[in-house]
Amino acid sequence: MKAYSKYGIDVLFTSFMMGEAAATTVFTGAAKNAKVDQFREAFKNTAVDETRHYAFTHLVLTDAAARISDEEKRMVTKQIRAGFVFLSLITYKKPSEFWKLPPWFQEVHEQMEELAREAGLGIPTLEEKEKAWRDAVIKVGVALKRYGVRMPAIPELGVTGEEVEESGEEDVVPVF
Ligand SMILES: [Fe+2]
Repeated sequence: MKAYSKYGIDVLFTSFMMGEAAATTVFTGAAKNAKVDQFREAFKNTAVDETRHYAFTHLVLTDAAARISDEEKRMVTKQIRAGFVFLSLITYKKPSEFWKLPPWFQEVHEQMEELAREAGLGIPTLEEKEKAWRDAVIKVGVALKRYGVRMPAIPELGVTGEEVEESGEEDVVPVF
């Protein structure tokens, strides 16, 4: 939560961009895969909501681009990476940094997801999640480039970019 007081509102909201882009795709996929009507409807509504969040981050960036400094642009790059690290735990796979988890986490997580998938909740497969994140990286990378903000390296997805130091508690902004 420390990150909320560390960064200005422009930097914070721009930092959410990739998480919102990935969430949009993940929930759209979940709505498509869900076999339970109520879940299909809930995920569809969540996807609409995530699309609004994504659009809002664009609005904030468009508005802020002219006045944010190079230093702040570097913060955005770092925050985009922190956003990936924070969200990939549940929307992709356990990242190697930040989260302190028991050794059995990944195995249990996968089993729980499989049960939820079998129950018709429309949980995307690992391949679908990976595709969602790749699409988010492409979308966000194009948008950021327009405003002179560099993408961070995301070796988990085979994406090269600006190397940023490991995300600590003070960097990670809980967002969804
Ligand atoms: Fe969101």
